[in-house]
Amino acid sequence: MPIEIRPLSTSMGAEVLGADFSKPVSNEDFASILQAFYDYQVLAIRDQNLSPADQIAFSERFGTLEDQLNSRYILPEEPKILVLSNDVKPDGTPVGLIDAGDFWHTDSSHRPLPSMATILYSLKNPDEGGDTGFANMYAAYEALPQSMKDSLDGRRAVQAVSKFKNKRVVASERRPDATEKYTEQMAIPDALHPAIRTHPVTGRKALYVSQRFTIGLEGMSEAEADPILDFLFEHQTKADFVYYHHWQDNDLVMWDNRCVIHRATGGYTYPDVRLMHRTVIAGDAPY
Ligand code: SIN
Repeated sequence: MPIEIRPLSTSMGAEVLGADFSKPVSNEDFASILQAFYDYQVLAIRDQNLSPADQIAFSERFGTLEDQLNSRYILPEEPKILVLSNDVKPDGTPVGLIDAGDFWHTDSSHRPLPSMATILYSLKNPDEGGDTGFANMYAAYEALPQSMKDSLDGRRAVQAVSKFKNKRVVASERRPDATEKYTEQMAIPDALHPAIRTHPVTGRKALYVSQRFTIGLEGMSEAEADPILDFLFEHQTKADFVYYHHWQDNDLVMWDNRCVIHRATGGYTYPDVRLMHRTVIAGDAPY
């Protein structure tokens, strides 16, 4: 049976039905998934029953996997998998990273080579909350006033990893190693990437800034850049561009970081547990 692809919203996203990626992915299924990924930007592949090795094998069809940045929260038997969770071990230590994605962002835009795609596999959903928001950056770019497109054309944005460099975000109080981590990250050089990037496959332009990582615009003082960034952060998450994914058990969700920003919305509290396994596909320098 061929897999079925059904749109999830008017802004972006599709669900994929009838696939079983615990088995090697056929070339035909892979081609359908890849085309849907370009067409819809976010795919929710339903009803997957995957071991960590299956998730790695599926993810590797799309490219080279990134090393995970947070070594403290990797899965010991598969170090390319990062565990996201609010669960705790019997000794009281966290099972996974608790504050992943708590502000709008696109993965690793603070690195010289940001991530191409991210794949999140849901092992346990909380009874309440835990949705992930996605916003379509093609649509956000296309809806910008022409004057704003012109002023951003060719301009690079400053992307910083440490939350302590960014006045628009805060470190989660729930993360035990937050101060240590964000202090350590202060030494990591900021990245400069085009505020408007061109998708290397579709050729479409996408807005490439986010509240979590973008702290300035090259060649502009803070006073000049701030109103522009505030406008862009508000604009890019307007309801018309956003899809909120309410997770089903065994969803495997993948998104294209080159044209989508995303955010974990929270809204659940231990012992209501959320547990996800994350793999990330390496990307190229934005242009
Ligand atoms: C992330 O930003 O990678 C995590 C999103 C989520 O957990 O919903």
